Amino acid sequence: MRIILCGFGVVGQSLVKLFASRSDELYSKYAVKPRVVGVFDSKGSAVDQSGLKLDKLIKVKKRFGTVKNYAVKNNSMSGIEMLKNLEADVLIETTASNYKDAEPGMTHITTAMKNGMHVISVNKGPLALAFPSLLELATYNQVMFKFSGTVGGGTPILDYAKNSLSGERITSFAGILNGTTNYILTNMASGLSFDSALKDAQDKGYVEADESLDLDGLDAAAKLVILANWIMGMKVTLPDIDCTGIRKVTSKEIRSASKKNCAIKLIASCDKKLVVGPKEISNDDPLCVNGTLNAIAFTSEHSGTQTIIGKGAGGMETASSILRDLLDIRQEIARD
Ligand code: HSE
Repeated sequence: MRIILCGFGVVGQSLVKLFASRSDELYSKYAVKPRVVGVFDSKGSAVDQSGLKLDKLIKVKKRFGTVKNYAVKNNSMSGIEMLKNLEADVLIETTASNYKDAEPGMTHITTAMKNGMHVISVNKGPLALAFPSLLELATYNQVMFKFSGTVGGGTPILDYAKNSLSGERITSFAGILNGTTNYILTNMASGLSFDSALKDAQDKGYVEADESLDLDGLDAAAKLVILANWIMGMKVTLPDIDCTGIRKVTSKEIRSASKKNCAIKLIASCDKKLVVGPKEISNDDPLCVNGTLNAIAFTSEHSGTQTIIGKGAGGMETASSILRDLLDIRQEIARD
């Protein structure tokens, strides 16, 4: 499968490592031979229609901080130029989520779909701002659109609700969908101030470059939009979410919750309304996970409430969700 990889940060590099380390198994078990024909990062690009050498890509990125030095030719192509000029089957979109205009991911995705490419996105921006129209565009162009890694990283939250509960009617769900704020609130419950907990999370590399995406609830709200559209069939976008972050949660409130055997968590919920905000929940609730973990509880008409817990972020974890999507695409192509 010929792949254009937009963005070569932690997730993109993890994916290439995953392809390299699993190449034999992917071929023997799934008949998949990923051929990365183009990749770019913020400084340049690497292109080879016959397939880039994965080990070399990683080495060049590590040594020079960019893939630009992979070759002397074609090393400044933009994502759009690649999508227009290279022949490929799948776009894997891993550029940073942007909730103002969703660019450059939005143009990458729409250009790929219009050119007949299947799309896998772990970039949440385009889905948060235009989920219903992107699904329509994919259907119109008869391409597949996959986005497992946008919610829960490597934890298959979307697949669980969509496929394992198929035939059921999910009536509501609620979850901790942002690992960074969970880490901060967990540490505040252990006595750290908001500022120290934030600094610790930043030092560990958890916080988004734009901290507001985590702290003001936008990341959780984007994930809620994706869940609401995909699981509940709602046609909503980011402005439809009633969203409050964690900046105003005080240590005093956390202490008083703790006295009642409760914790304050940033909860994204879909019941009658779509809401993201700090909420007190019992320590005995399965949803009440600590550290950077994510958890989501789905309540359905006949099978009750089930909670899924797992890591919601991480390079290799998210790369594994992309691989899952790629194998799905391969299987659907084979079925057709
Ligand atoms: N900033 C996100 C989080 C990363 O903390 O959960 C994964 O989407």
